[in-house]
Amino acid sequence: MSKFIIEGGRKLSGSIRVKGAKNAALKIIPAAILSKEKISISNLPKIEDIDKALHLLNDLGATINQRGDRLEISTANIAKFELNPEFANKFRASIMFVGPVLARFGEVKFPHPGGCVIGAGGRPIDLFLEGFKCLGAEIGVDGNYYHLKAKKLKGCNYFFPLISVTATEALMMTAVLAQGTTTLKNCAMEPEIKALADYLNEQGAKIKGAGTPTITIEGVEKISGGGFKIIPDRIETGSFAIMAAATKSNITITDCEPEHVQALLSIFNKIGVPFEAGRDFLKIKEAKKISSYSIKTHEYPGFPTDLQPPYTVLMTQATGSSLIHETIYDRRLLYVDNLLQMGADITMCDPHRVVVNGPAKLYGKKLTSPDLRAGIGILIAALIASGQTEIDNIYQIDRGYEDIDGRLRSLGADIKRIGTLNL
Ligand code: EPU
Repeated sequence: MSKFIIEGGRKLSGSIRVKGAKNAALKIIPAAILSKEKISISNLPKIEDIDKALHLLNDLGATINQRGDRLEISTANIAKFELNPEFANKFRASIMFVGPVLARFGEVKFPHPGGCVIGAGGRPIDLFLEGFKCLGAEIGVDGNYYHLKAKKLKGCNYFFPLISVTATEALMMTAVLAQGTTTLKNCAMEPEIKALADYLNEQGAKIKGAGTPTITIEGVEKISGGGFKIIPDRIETGSFAIMAAATKSNITITDCEPEHVQALLSIFNKIGVPFEAGRDFLKIKEAKKISSYSIKTHEYPGFPTDLQPPYTVLMTQATGSSLIHETIYDRRLLYVDNLLQMGADITMCDPHRVVVNGPAKLYGKKLTSPDLRAGIGILIAALIASGQTEIDNIYQIDRGYEDIDGRLRSLGADIKRIGTLNL
């Protein structure tokens, strides 16, 4: 198993380029199934989760040509409506293939999507099933598979009982080829949703309101092929900004959209992290003293749950106490055990809330990355800590951050990879 060895305590400097957003790429790949024409995608991040999505698409019969960060997909020859469990079981976002396959072929078979430890009970898909049913799909269970059928999907009104990013995107994509009008209410508003809707509209879809709580989709007969540039990864942007603040470094983050991380930047203003934000860059300047500030994770444009672990690490370096309230996932604070081992002063109030007292001196330890965002949090802690930290199970970092060790080394971090990156 690969691992990172980090010698902490160094300041970082220089500039780091943000890659394309994992959570936008994971939706545009299945969206290719909505059209029989070619789609070309650029700014694709080179990470494990994307590889899995491409394997799944390839298994369905699509033709894929990849060159660097560019990808051309043709789904003209897909003739299968069954998602191979060998791939679908490995990542949660395989659920994004269900709607497009159902919309194009009138039928889809798929296993419960796997691959995630942060939600209780394996992360449910009830909202997806309820939404597909509302669009007219018959839902059956066949052994270990869900089996959905609909001769022709029909527009409907659906209210999301809770806000879900992928369920919003899944129903929006599916309704594009349904007959009549669909209105989705209480939708998620993440920038990746708007980017997907903008692309589909350019190719003939009629989607209004993406990026607001109400989305209306007028069904069309056909979606054309086209080109899609993946938007910058706002979670990478925020992770690097927090890394710069926590290590008290001067770092320029390029090719990003600071507007997508406003929740974090508004807090930087309060806690004393100086920065300069341009249209597509963010300069984080050395923070002399960081003050504590409590957060509660929230759907976009609120404070993203995906930045909660790095932010918690930052708070270990802040003066005072802060309450970190994780509202989205049930198991996303368990990693604090790693920070306690490193010397952080953190009290767990309940599974959703911890109090961090700072500043605390952190020390290098042997740790395991439990999930993607906790993994980058632990990596930031290792950069601050004195002494050596060993992080294993780094697959859980690689699956969301391209060549993270190489990019951190270029900022002056002392980080070594033991083992190879399997991409
Ligand atoms: N939920 C249900 N039923 C459903 C769907 C979701 O109860 O059918 C619950 C979830 O268990 C969770 C809450 O709704 O408690 C919100 O989860 P959401 O559905 O919004 O999450 P998601 O769409 O599965 C996406 C990102 C996550 C990110 C969340 C929240 C993708 C592929 N994933 O997940 O990204 O944390 O939105 O912003 O877009 C990550 O990148 O590390 C990651 C986990």
